[in-house]
Amino acid sequence: MTYNINDKGYYGEFGGAYIPEMLYPNVEELRQNYLKIMAEPSFKKEFDQLLKDYVGRPSPLYFAKRLSDKYNTKIYLKREDLNHTGAHKVNNTIGQILMAKRLGKTRIIAETGAGQHGVATATVCALMGMQCIVYMGEIDIARQAPNVARMKMLGTEVRPALSGSRTLKDATNEAIRDWINNPVDTHYIIGSVVGPHPYPDMVARFQSVVSEEIQWQLKDKEGTTKPNYVIACVGGGSNAAGAFYHYLEDTEVNLIAVEAAGKGIDSGESAATSALGREGIIHGSKTLLMQTNDGQITEPYSISAGLDYPGVGPMHAHLYTSGRAEFISITDDEAMTAGLELSQLEGIIPAIESSHAFAVLAQKKFQPKDIVIMNLSGRGDKDLQNYIDYFKL
Ligand SMILES: Cc1ncc(COP(=O)(O)O)c(C=O)c1O
Repeated sequence: MTYNINDKGYYGEFGGAYIPEMLYPNVEELRQNYLKIMAEPSFKKEFDQLLKDYVGRPSPLYFAKRLSDKYNTKIYLKREDLNHTGAHKVNNTIGQILMAKRLGKTRIIAETGAGQHGVATATVCALMGMQCIVYMGEIDIARQAPNVARMKMLGTEVRPALSGSRTLKDATNEAIRDWINNPVDTHYIIGSVVGPHPYPDMVARFQSVVSEEIQWQLKDKEGTTKPNYVIACVGGGSNAAGAFYHYLEDTEVNLIAVEAAGKGIDSGESAATSALGREGIIHGSKTLLMQTNDGQITEPYSISAGLDYPGVGPMHAHLYTSGRAEFISITDDEAMTAGLELSQLEGIIPAIESSHAFAVLAQKKFQPKDIVIMNLSGRGDKDLQNYIDYFKL
């Protein structure tokens, strides 16, 4: 069995491109060209150069000594929080803006939840002088205000999504609607490993630089390319896809995907897709999806805007149903506590999304000799007000 995509655009039974006819030309243009373009030496050169000089890669692999002492195991942090713009999202937006340019596009649209993808898209659009419109749920505009200000400062128009739960799912719907209306000049920079094929694969490939670096960085530090565990939070699943990518077929390496349980899996206010989801179609792909008995998408909830999504990407649906990855659900309270702990043990304030991954350390027992890689997907600047309100700091 392979855990990566097959030549039909599926991960096991998940994936594909379930799209309205009006989107077909756009998606097909991308499908026919993305691998060819990514393989061009000039593309690779420009991508690698920007990751190095503009994003600041490679991001460090940091041995977290005090955290390791506390949990009596060896914990390394992959510091995606140190990337320019503060999260892993920029790895993908650099790749996609170069792709858009080569496809002759002049107008960029994107959706965003936590605002990190919106900021990363606004950033590369400023860099390349392209028009940029970002759709964002009204609730997320309020809870991630610093990122809204950053997007505006970068010259991007932020358009509120006012339907449904007014969060990431609804912003994605608005972006798809825009793309249908502007099929010729516009490229849609999707921010995670979701959407119709080839998006999940393309985004995973751009993010795979994370596990590529982990391999040689770990070799330098521990004499092996293989950790015992790689742990990452999953909203749509792009930071996890990047951290898992080069280990997908290597079953000696345990993969742990962390979802948002919100106020509790059975509370009716959660985004724990693997625990609660069934097969369905969302945003152009067949995947696991939280839905009612008659197939209506359930409104998700998480304190973390970036994990507040009723589905996961098809790679993760396959990793879950095949048993290749273990899925753990973490509540708002557990995540916030883990975020405070990382801040005070290591001097690193994580994004609330990333805090979910760290909460696993208190739930699961690791051996003293285990090497545990935590993908620290983003920094907590955007979440300071939420932490302050929660802890009454
Ligand atoms: C810092 C951070 N981590 C994780 C996520 C979740 O997205 P994904 O599952 O695609 O990595 C987000 C999304 O906005 C984010 O900003």
